[in-house]
Amino acid sequence: MSADSNSFIGVFDSGVGGISVLRSLVAELPGEDFHYFGDSANAPYGEKPEAQVLELSRSIVERFVAQGAKAIVIACNTATSVAAAPLRNAYPDLPIIGIEPALKPATEAPGHGRILVMATDITLTLDKYHDLAATYGKDCDVISVPCPGLAGRIEHGELEQPDLTEMIRGYVGSFAGTVGSVVLGCTHYPFVRRQIAEVLGPDVKFFDGGAGTARHLRSRLSAAGLLAPEGHAGAVEFASSKDTEAEIALYREFFERRI
Ligand code: DGL
Repeated sequence: MSADSNSFIGVFDSGVGGISVLRSLVAELPGEDFHYFGDSANAPYGEKPEAQVLELSRSIVERFVAQGAKAIVIACNTATSVAAAPLRNAYPDLPIIGIEPALKPATEAPGHGRILVMATDITLTLDKYHDLAATYGKDCDVISVPCPGLAGRIEHGELEQPDLTEMIRGYVGSFAGTVGSVVLGCTHYPFVRRQIAEVLGPDVKFFDGGAGTARHLRSRLSAAGLLAPEGHAGAVEFASSKDTEAEIALYREFFERRI
């Protein structure tokens, strides 16, 4: 199937996390059709071998392309770090937009203070993040904290349970009162912003890559002449590798939840 401006944008993540990005995409581009795919049957990606994350990402993008997607958003920092470059090589004519920890806006914000970056192990280990930290973090006090297990716990929903706040305290509690800003470098984490603030203090500023990714998508679609026709009413569809009604209901709840 060949793609044109009437076609849809494929958005994916290991699970529910990319829905935090999807919300920014819809806010920026309400006239577009978005097909969201959460690979919840294989979540979390952040603790898998890179080769497996690459293969999972590749097969999701292959399917979107076969369905006629006009662009892809990798709404996952981990999959972007591993798979964005090889996927762009494989599909040179397809706009493929990734996401990265929002270290640039955090370091550029006035009065940012000490910056804590929370992300998966893979994201913090790969060159992409080291390059980002070398470019934007060199004159700032940046602490990078891997949070294994946190995305997997968020996948289960029930975000108001005390075990989740205690889990967050285990990762970052020792920095309470000593950081000014937090970069949410995994797309699952915006859903627990309130719980992180509860641990670190109410005045911390949060940065995530959602809005920047949405602006980037708009400019890529515009440059390629692929923006949806004026007046088109956009729609959002959800699909999951954990193909149950309960899972799709959970995705809708995350899409509508107050954060
Ligand atoms: N939401 C993803 C990210 O932004 C991945 C989390 C995971 O599956 O480990 O990194």
